[in-house]
Amino acid sequence: MKDQLAKIRAEALAALEGVQDAAGLDGLRVKYLGKKGELTGVLKMMGKLSPEERPVMGQMANDVRAALEKALDEASQKLEAAALALRLKAEAIDVTIPGQAVAVGREHPMNIALNEMKDIFTGMGFTIMDGPEVELAAYNFDRLNAEEGHPSRDWSDTFYFDQDSRVMLRSQTSPMQVRAMDTLPLPIRILAPGRVYRKDEVDATHSPMFHQVEGLVIDKGVTMADLKGALNTVAERLFGEGTKTRFRPHHFPFTEPSCEMDVQCHKCGGVGCPTCTGEGWIELLGAGMVHPRVLEMAGIDPEVYSGWAFGFGLERLALRRFKIDDVRLIFENNIRFLEQF
Ligand code: PHE
Repeated sequence: MKDQLAKIRAEALAALEGVQDAAGLDGLRVKYLGKKGELTGVLKMMGKLSPEERPVMGQMANDVRAALEKALDEASQKLEAAALALRLKAEAIDVTIPGQAVAVGREHPMNIALNEMKDIFTGMGFTIMDGPEVELAAYNFDRLNAEEGHPSRDWSDTFYFDQDSRVMLRSQTSPMQVRAMDTLPLPIRILAPGRVYRKDEVDATHSPMFHQVEGLVIDKGVTMADLKGALNTVAERLFGEGTKTRFRPHHFPFTEPSCEMDVQCHKCGGVGCPTCTGEGWIELLGAGMVHPRVLEMAGIDPEVYSGWAFGFGLERLALRRFKIDDVRLIFENNIRFLEQF
């Protein structure tokens, strides 16, 4: 029996040396220490021993069990450590490898120019107003004092939806003046940017869809001096302090008097160069004092209230601002173009 125990111990320890994985380890545990295991088998025969031999053998059997348990634990720890080391190696992240750059987009030059305008005007107390691009001719023309037969109402210039020319793609943001007067309490100070549509062929300076920004102020005692003061401030904010402006008489059906505002060419300082086509001045916007008829049609008493309005093309401003020479670049959205801003 003594020999048997020694043999079990030697065999088990040798087997544990070569164990490869958790399953193998479990097998050995069952084989030697399990209920039907070899050590248990030996212990079952203790009953046959003499009373003197029993405690000696019992002691020896316990020693073997303790030694096996210790060896099993150690082997198990070794296996776990080896498995962990393997996993750490396999799942290791090399933090020194350069990361993958995330592609960050750019703001479109049109949005840069528009946000600049919004900043300037909200700083002057204007509210931004949004409106429909599918507009009633009543708002785009009639209420703006452009009566039936006015050349701008012509089918060759305007996208109509119906035979009787009542619904259209707005050809200007000026109908927003009417919408503002119809819906807002007085006094009014709004800036209304948005898309407008005209039947123009695409070329370097034209597009059938472009953007305008409309401005409208209505209050008591508003004069042409306020118009000039405000627009001069805007020109200086856009093109730098001391920028000279020029107001030329013009005609719009919904303003009286009407004017166009030019800014002195930033390239040549007014001498004349290719940028300003030799003029020294660059046309920037149309403006004027709101026509009394337009106020009346909106239910506003022109004896009490007066106002001024302006409208300009945003593409033209963005082209100037970023020295772009073809409006088509604005709409093509070529990444190589857009990345420059
Ligand atoms: N709507 C005019 C245009 O498209 C511009 C304008 C707006 C003129 C407001 C005067 C007042 O040309």
